Amino acid sequence: MSSRVLTGITTTGTLHLGNYVGAIRPAIAASRTPGVESFFFMADFHALIKCDEPDRIARSSRAIAATWLAAGLDTERVTFYRQSDIPEIPELTWLLTCVTAKGQMNRAHAYKAAVDAATAAGEEPDANVTMGLFSYPVLMAADILMFNAHKVPVGKDQVQHIEMTRDIAQRFNHLFGQGRELFTLPEAVTDAEMELLPGLDGRKMSKSYDNVIPLFEGGSAALKDAVARIVTDSKLPGEPKAPEGQALVTIYDAFACAQQRAAFRAALRGGLGWGEAKQQLVALIEGQIGPMRARYDELMAHPERLEAILQAGAARARAMAAPLLKQLREAVGLRPYTSAAATAKAAKLDKAALPVFKQYREADGRFYFKLLSAGGELLLQSSGFEQGRDAGQWVARLKREGSAALSADAPVRREGSDADIAAALTAFQEEG
Ligand code: TRP
Repeated sequence: MSSRVLTGITTTGTLHLGNYVGAIRPAIAASRTPGVESFFFMADFHALIKCDEPDRIARSSRAIAATWLAAGLDTERVTFYRQSDIPEIPELTWLLTCVTAKGQMNRAHAYKAAVDAATAAGEEPDANVTMGLFSYPVLMAADILMFNAHKVPVGKDQVQHIEMTRDIAQRFNHLFGQGRELFTLPEAVTDAEMELLPGLDGRKMSKSYDNVIPLFEGGSAALKDAVARIVTDSKLPGEPKAPEGQALVTIYDAFACAQQRAAFRAALRGGLGWGEAKQQLVALIEGQIGPMRARYDELMAHPERLEAILQAGAARARAMAAPLLKQLREAVGLRPYTSAAATAKAAKLDKAALPVFKQYREADGRFYFKLLSAGGELLLQSSGFEQGRDAGQWVARLKREGSAALSADAPVRREGSDADIAAALTAFQEEG
């Protein structure tokens, strides 16, 4: 069976090298693996949580779509779509919201960070928390479960969300699956080597730290500018430098093969100046990013092409999402009224498949009962009672207490195996 890989990227702002190295590049590489079915999407519903500037949302979504395509995404192999083009996702979000424990959401890192920040600023803990932010992990779970993804490549900071997704999926399966696994439990995939690419100041590269190197935006000039601002130590050219812990070196590594990495380190230990090292880094990155940037510019100049690609992707995604959602609605009880007949029929069939007690009167005038298995086989035969009521009371007691009521002096004869009798009586107790 093929393995499904899914990842989304929130459409606020434009992308930086950290997004490319940590998310886009590994995702596209994995999508080329035989037997892998990939789903990549613009998480624009997620973007609304963080941003209330419509034009920015719109522009960012477009830029990010163009970025994935420019970076080599093959839409033949990958189902590539906008989250907001798939109405099944918010609908699934609600079904999941209804089985998600609030206490679990209280522990989400993003929410806790917002609470900590507000508290530190002397505000109410939830001062800056919308329900969107609070429920963020549920929407993300819907993204993933909608397509029953097995693997979800994400940054380390997102791993908790995948764990929450598993919990939610498990709970849903347990409540509504009736033994079926309605949802696959996904696994987070983090690229151990490259996760959390450092930014200019050595902290994780992130818009919120204002320390990013842009991916395409601003062209090669912006790339050069940003690299020039990477913080290093103050050793002069000619002085030996320790490569360990230098953001510059880690960023270099992200674009270099093993030999280049070793050579770069050796050169720094041998006294390579930071200015020269930065030029080498720019050349290395530009060699890989440059050709993509040209494709990016081309796509940005032709929004109609982008739109057509995404419409096709949405159609493909919905063709998969719609049948699953239909099944889920059915599972939770959101059913067309016309399917009630089918339900009643199923219930009757279930009844027919249960064992039965039969009570009757013989020619001798006495009252009897017998227990028959679901298949109609005789399991217990009572002796004759003077009063019909006494037979009835024994039946009730056997249904209630099961095998425990079958003591040596019980007025019944065993006709079936002990196991069959026990199973039949248990069925009554479960039913009651
Ligand atoms: N929350 C992710 C991020 O900020 C983006 C995202 C949304 C996502 N839905 C997803 C990632 C589903 C993986 C799977 O990076």
